[in-house]
Amino acid sequence: MSSLDNPAQRADELREQIRHHNQRYHELDEPEISDADYDALVRELALIEETHPELQTPDSPTQLVGSAPSAQFTPVEHRSRMMSLDNATSFDELVAWGKRMERFIGDEVSFICELKIDGVAMSLLYEDGLFVRAATRGDGRVGEDVTENVRTIAAVPKKMKPVKKVVPSLVEVRGEVYMPLAAFEALNEQQAKNEQRLFANPRNAGAGSLRQKDPKITASRELSFWTYQIGEIVGGPKFTAHHETLDFLGAAGFPINPEIRLFDNLDDVHAFCRHWQEHRHDLPYEIDGVVIKVDDLAQRDELGFTSKAPRWAIAYKFPPEERTTLLKDIMVSIGRTGKATPFAMLEPVFVGGSTVGLSTLHNEDQVRLKDVRPGDTVIVRKAGDVIPEVVGPVVSLRPEGLPEWRFPTECPVCHAPLVRPEGESDTYCTNIDCPAQRQGRIDHFASRGAMDIEGLGERTVRLFIEQGWLNDPGDIYTLDFEKVATLEGFGEISIDNLRAAIEASKQRPLSSLLVGLNIRHLGGTGSRVLAKALGNLDRIMGASVEELTAVEGLGPIIAQSVHEFFADEGHRDLVERLRAAGLNFEGPAAPDLPQNLAGISVVVTGTLDGWSREAAEEAIKGRGGKAPSSVSKKTTAVVVGEGPGAAKLTKAQELGIPVLDEAGFAHLLDTGEMPAAGQD
Ligand code: IVH
Repeated sequence: MSSLDNPAQRADELREQIRHHNQRYHELDEPEISDADYDALVRELALIEETHPELQTPDSPTQLVGSAPSAQFTPVEHRSRMMSLDNATSFDELVAWGKRMERFIGDEVSFICELKIDGVAMSLLYEDGLFVRAATRGDGRVGEDVTENVRTIAAVPKKMKPVKKVVPSLVEVRGEVYMPLAAFEALNEQQAKNEQRLFANPRNAGAGSLRQKDPKITASRELSFWTYQIGEIVGGPKFTAHHETLDFLGAAGFPINPEIRLFDNLDDVHAFCRHWQEHRHDLPYEIDGVVIKVDDLAQRDELGFTSKAPRWAIAYKFPPEERTTLLKDIMVSIGRTGKATPFAMLEPVFVGGSTVGLSTLHNEDQVRLKDVRPGDTVIVRKAGDVIPEVVGPVVSLRPEGLPEWRFPTECPVCHAPLVRPEGESDTYCTNIDCPAQRQGRIDHFASRGAMDIEGLGERTVRLFIEQGWLNDPGDIYTLDFEKVATLEGFGEISIDNLRAAIEASKQRPLSSLLVGLNIRHLGGTGSRVLAKALGNLDRIMGASVEELTAVEGLGPIIAQSVHEFFADEGHRDLVERLRAAGLNFEGPAAPDLPQNLAGISVVVTGTLDGWSREAAEEAIKGRGGKAPSSVSKKTTAVVVGEGPGAAKLTKAQELGIPVLDEAGFAHLLDTGEMPAAGQD
């Protein structure tokens, strides 16, 4: 229902939904929707109430903070209300807020910028310097007594240090309890080992660990604390600015986040927010924004409060990295080695800067551990440059009777049995002639990381397979170009080019041929090592496992795999056909690659026509360069294919790093030089 049709009804609906989600988040520590989806509901309601003030009710969630405390814990009445913060979700909104502050004050305003820690708000009470009580925020007036649980957190001082020899008779300190990322990962590893449900994120894990009946459980989970505010102080120093409060708290032994900065202009505030939006994942804990506060306490008094938040502070929220969406289905794709990889088909959702519709689920165990089922609402996360992942299901929204997903027993392409070798986590299609495997093998053989046959990309390979002309890489060399000429889209020039590219591939180094043969575990580096050590394909084919293992730089797993590959009659037959076609089998076929990229760093994003991501990165590393997965100041160039990561592109543009297309990349690899302007 749209708010335009019937705003009163829509407002009621929204209030009910928001109350429900408040309870899931604050009381049960098991949210059903992402923060971004929740914020969207609150914004919609606030907008209706703004345009129809008569629809605003005193108990509307827009007027309240958090959620009522749970009956599980003893209620604690806060001495002064714990308020919430208004949000800005764009830099424009942030700057507009800042300008409002300056206009209202009519004087210079200094702003304190603090990281917005994604944890649980906490009030700590100290009497004569001793920790006596900890309470959650609850609904802002009444929270939950979690004293014994918080006592187990090492970062929370149990006794305040005197500052200038004085200990206040009473202090209420506020801050955020959080779970560091490393502790979160270790906890989830433990949960997986014990076949327990995984926590979706550090916030849920932290909140769940804190709100335990048994403090021993809290003690076993590593929680920490950052302090950001004084609620009340009796018998202590008087402060005139927030930064003085923080200095005092730091001196009294409370942990103060080292990234807090004081600025005297909005440009610097803006730059601070931009910086942390880009670098949030450099921190060992999660943040979801920046809190900007007016520093001067007299100015704060002038600005005052709305019903639920101070006017003198705002939370700049980063764009969301987690969203909820529908898992439409789980499918399995077959790679060139026959590996069957399950992947999620999602209702497309915009998250972490791009739209995500597909996401790998890696293998059978991962699906079982996450227990995601087609029909589930799932949490999708795309953090920074990391590939998108399905974090887990929202179990409370699972339709009744939704069956568990089972790994198929048959290959979806050729219907041969799928088999999971004992002790391995991957499952394989057992049919070496499976069309999906065949296509994968030929694509790989022709790719730039292997035999580099220009013009023989995925689409052409598929077309030729459909015509029955290609069954394996050997068939490339017996293609009938007269027949190719009968296909639509193949003119004289493209056929000449393809013929020349195939011809040229016959002279590729032995190491490229080894890569192209698609021997399990043998990549570019291993192929170069092998070609250089044994010198020709016949020696490699005839080598025993011992001889292969003796090659420096080749591990026993690769040695075994190479030996098994050439023991196979079908593979030997393929090699003979390639020999008959005149391919180069001889060394010294592994010229060391020129180290022309030494000292430079190239990031590859998106899909390139002739390169798999691994092959492109290997080509960079093989030439002495670095191929990290994220863009930073140290990046020399970003190579962009189809569907690049938006975050990487934006960052490259912001940092003024050259962006290369595939041709520019080829130029860089060949010459070690950046292409001239116009080529990138
Ligand atoms: S100040 C009256 N500072 O964000 C202002 N809050 O969305 C009180 N938070 O309830 C809050 N980091 O749980 C403040 N540096 C920070 C914060 C912070 C995280 C949380 C806090 C608050 C919520 C508001």
